Amino acid sequence: MRIVQLVRRFGGLVAVNQVSFDVHPGEIVGLIGPNGAGKTTLFNIISGHLKSDSGQLLFDGVDLTHARAPRCARAGIGRTFQIVKPLTTLTVLENVMVGALLKNSAADAREKAARIVERVGMADLMHRLSGSLTLESRKRLELARALSVEPKIILLDEILAGLNPSEVEQSIHLIRDLAQTDGLAVIMIEHNLHAVMSLAEQIVVLDYGVKIAHDVPEAVVRDPKVIAAYLGSDD
Ligand SMILES: Nc1ncnc2c1ncn2[C@@H]1O[C@H](COP(=O)(O)OP(=O)(O)OP(=O)(O)O)[C@@H](O)[C@H]1O
Ligand SMILES: [Mg+2]
Repeated sequence: MRIVQLVRRFGGLVAVNQVSFDVHPGEIVGLIGPNGAGKTTLFNIISGHLKSDSGQLLFDGVDLTHARAPRCARAGIGRTFQIVKPLTTLTVLENVMVGALLKNSAADAREKAARIVERVGMADLMHRLSGSLTLESRKRLELARALSVEPKIILLDEILAGLNPSEVEQSIHLIRDLAQTDGLAVIMIEHNLHAVMSLAEQIVVLDYGVKIAHDVPEAVVRDPKVIAAYLGSDD
């Protein structure tokens, strides 16, 4: 995926300001930055939930700059939402089937959805109504829904927030497996720096909509611009 000079304004605020970077198959890119830096807005543009004001989004040789969400999903872009929003009156399996139906008959969608539910470790919750799930399970369901569109890239928006340390380790293991075994590209927004550091090959740092750093994790954490952004220095 090539993200080229993307810009998004909200009134006078430039939430995403000329952001560019590439993500390759099997690669995990961490997207970090202080609250309000523009991370979720960038995801919304990439997944077709929000229009960009300028710039380009290229994926698998296709220009998706002006594509809306359903076309982005069909093209192979899966995502989770920071505010988890399962369809609460559907079961776990049915939630995942909704995405799988984009590319499959009902019978195939059911089978594929069941496999995804197992993959994210929710086999025992397959037929539970999603409205009755714990936060941890809802986070896993979000990941399952992202996988349901048979993506080539997944955008993960703080899926580790609120999980306990052993749940975080399980999720780290699964994300690494999705990249290494399935060759998925991953962009993950994460405030859990330990997790990002252990997973990502590259880290992109946004601050006030601007990309202020893009490097391997070891270099990014030592970058004075990044340290200043996290300490909230305005000058
Ligand atoms: N729909 C919108 N209308 C107006 N302003 C918005 C909208 N969405 C986001 N913003 C603003 O754009 C900026 C970036 O928001 P965004 O949600 O992308 O940040 P973020 O990096 O994901 O932050 P967080 O870490 O808190 O999730 C913020 O100042 C936010 O208030
Ligand atoms: Mg956000």
